[in-house]
Amino acid sequence: MAIQICVPKEVRKDEQRVALVPDTVKRLATEGLLINIQSGAGELVGYTDADYENASIVADSKELLGKADITLMVNPATSEQIEQLKDGSVLIGYMDPHADLQRFNQLKNKNISAFSMELIPRISRAQAMDALSSQASIAGYKAVLLAANILGKFFPMLTTAAGTIRPSKVLIIGAGVAGLQAIATARRLGAIVEAYDVRAATKEQVESLGAKFVDIEIKAEGDGGYARELSEEEKQQQQEILAKHVAAADVIITTAAIPGRSSPRIISTAMVEGMRGGSVIVDLAAEGGGNCELTKADETVLHQGVKIYGPVNVPSMVGNHASEMYSKNLLNFLELLIQDGVINIDLEDEIISGSLITHAGAIHHAGIEAQLSKGAS
Ligand code: NAI
Repeated sequence: MAIQICVPKEVRKDEQRVALVPDTVKRLATEGLLINIQSGAGELVGYTDADYENASIVADSKELLGKADITLMVNPATSEQIEQLKDGSVLIGYMDPHADLQRFNQLKNKNISAFSMELIPRISRAQAMDALSSQASIAGYKAVLLAANILGKFFPMLTTAAGTIRPSKVLIIGAGVAGLQAIATARRLGAIVEAYDVRAATKEQVESLGAKFVDIEIKAEGDGGYARELSEEEKQQQQEILAKHVAAADVIITTAAIPGRSSPRIISTAMVEGMRGGSVIVDLAAEGGGNCELTKADETVLHQGVKIYGPVNVPSMVGNHASEMYSKNLLNFLELLIQDGVINIDLEDEIISGSLITHAGAIHHAGIEAQLSKGAS
């Protein structure tokens, strides 16, 4: 029997992405897979049901999920959606693996093999499946446009009959995937860009994009290429040196994150008070608590003339390309998971095993299993 792949309409209210776009559906269909899309799933992305000509359109979520051998989603499945999944099927999508852990017991009890896109290892072989990267890159780009939109200044230098306009100064904090894309975007708009990260390896990347690296002489490389949390002393040192760069900036984009922890607090209220009126902070870490002490998720706070904006679900604001890239990430993952028309969960494969949270009626992911046995919720 051919594998049934199902894509529900996302239920998160601000979501404008879909797990599969029509082009990817076409490609999967040529591989003999049967694709089912919930009616209206692509609507906010710009695709009508008719655009999914290689898929069957199913109106009802229960009917759709009940027949899926593999369900593909963007956002974590809700408890109601998990209930509707076919026992023993595969679920692939964002899982938010550090929150609301009881969902994983529900998935385990339904014998679901649940793969988390966030847990795909950051190794070369997995780059084409790396949704964290594809979506972070979009967020970095959009953050600069959001900032440009609320800044009362030009980004580029302009020589006009009405005088010369000086270029805006942009400071990017956190030069990972989002930060590097933010640097490139701000440079394309003509700003003068500085960037800072606690991982020393980023210096060269920042400079190769034409930005100046702010060196604070703290090296905080952690596991798996991620940053580690700073000590209290290091945090103090960071704030002291950063304060003058913060004060000089017209725009600050913050992207700093540490997996599984709340966002590091880097910009204090006092640092904001040192900025010029009219300056803008766009805090991409808002959902994790924010890199700025004053950030409020999904709001713009005005503090002594400085606007601090904490947008949420930023990749979704560029929903069409975000879906196209995410869909490609899923396609590449499916090509690893499906061998000769059969689902093959090869636990010896680093990518399969590393991203698998529940499988065969058990919690497969050691970290989540440890948290759950400690009684974490
Ligand atoms: P992330 O989203 O976890 O964090 C964003 C950035 O914030 C990171 O560069 C981090 O070093 C920085 N940061 C954390 N705490 C900070 C602080 N207190 N002050 C300033 N900056 C701080 O990172 P992202 O973008 O997901 O990248 C994580 C790693 O994965 C990087 O080493 C990246 O090169 C690597 N990577 C590897 C890939 C692959 O080989 N497949 C693909 C993409 C990324």
